[in-house]
Amino acid sequence: MIIIQNGKVLDPKSQTNAVMDLMIHQGKIIAMETNIAPDEKDIVIDASGLSVAPGLIDVHVHFRDPGLTYKEDIQTGAKAAAKGGFTTVVCMANTRPPVDNQETLEYILAQGRKTGIHVLPAAAITVGMKGSELVNMEELKKCGAVGFTDDGLPIKDALLAKRAMEEAVRLDVPLSFHEEDPAFIENNGINQGDVSDKLGIGGSPALAEDVMVARDCMLALHTGATIDIQHISSGNSVQMVRLAKHLGAKIMAEVTPHHFSLDETAVLKHKTLAKMNPPLRTEADREEILQGLQDNTIDIIATDHAPHSTEEKNRPLTEAPSGIIGLETSLALGITNLVHPGRLSLLQLIEKMTLNPARLYRLDKGFLAPGADADIVIFDPNEIWTVTEFASKSANSPFIGERLFGKVKYTICNGEIVYHST
Ligand code: DOR
Ligand code: ZN
Repeated sequence: MIIIQNGKVLDPKSQTNAVMDLMIHQGKIIAMETNIAPDEKDIVIDASGLSVAPGLIDVHVHFRDPGLTYKEDIQTGAKAAAKGGFTTVVCMANTRPPVDNQETLEYILAQGRKTGIHVLPAAAITVGMKGSELVNMEELKKCGAVGFTDDGLPIKDALLAKRAMEEAVRLDVPLSFHEEDPAFIENNGINQGDVSDKLGIGGSPALAEDVMVARDCMLALHTGATIDIQHISSGNSVQMVRLAKHLGAKIMAEVTPHHFSLDETAVLKHKTLAKMNPPLRTEADREEILQGLQDNTIDIIATDHAPHSTEEKNRPLTEAPSGIIGLETSLALGITNLVHPGRLSLLQLIEKMTLNPARLYRLDKGFLAPGADADIVIFDPNEIWTVTEFASKSANSPFIGERLFGKVKYTICNGEIVYHST
């Protein structure tokens, strides 16, 4: 048995925020109370001064496997996840080939089972992610797809998006949407505005996101589907999600750590390491995001962990691929940029990284209680560390060299220690 002693237990479901002990046996939490007496044979983790929370859940990662494993593979992606405190990840479907078929889905499930954490695949919404024909959602759900997404690309055809939502209602699965209409985009990954003007490039306007968010909010309202607006970046989109939820739509919204931490000016400093889709936007957009996090318009923090090689990111700004890694800095960016400035409490942050993502994917996870799965992160919210090296195969992060609060000490998944900081 593992006993975690004297940690500050943060449980978003029961709103517990108190010093307690946890006892773990055969993959489950079997006791959560004060002063659990350990046996000689027990492994004791002294968590004095540390926080103990449900294992983090990231509903938006790109592990590039199969097909692009020079960037990341399922093993290295899972190692990066465990190092960041994550015990469950949902992999996006834009692998090569995309996850639109049973064989690819089963390959990811099989590789995932070897990692020690829970690697859950989302399947594509459309065949080949080409946006014209729906996949067989029923079959793919039966094979283990936890949800559906063409992430990386929008569903341009509104009728097809509506049909996908109707099928998702029938099957009771969530859909998640990448909201950018390419019709309005001159260069992706950089906000259209002051910074793109300064750089003499066209950029990607908030309009491209806003029109699609507006459409999908209304489609969700009219169909009753549960949908996730991925990596929200524009202030108008935050406001539309707020309105749609108010009207009764079953919408959840994600934001990435980079979109709540940085604005478009980061591109001037970090170049391609601040290029991602959708792009970093203005300080006013970032402020709307912070308000959306505070009033629960934005329910989920998800990294959009998007590894790319150094060679790819060394290409010119308009040619380099979009995306940055995020699993190993997510918790610390939340603590540093949300909790420290007083925008969220630590418990609220944890809720958006555990219970809420579990709710979206209907997982019986994201909480600490007797009987719950022993998926746990133990971290020091006050320790300052410098971002230097990664367990990920890639290192495309604008946060290298940053000093951040919040260091993961242990990650426990299924009752096993899968990461321990040295
Ligand atoms: O910047 C991004 N990169 N945004 C996405 O939606 C996809 C991702 C990728 O796959 O690299
Ligand atoms: Zn995306």
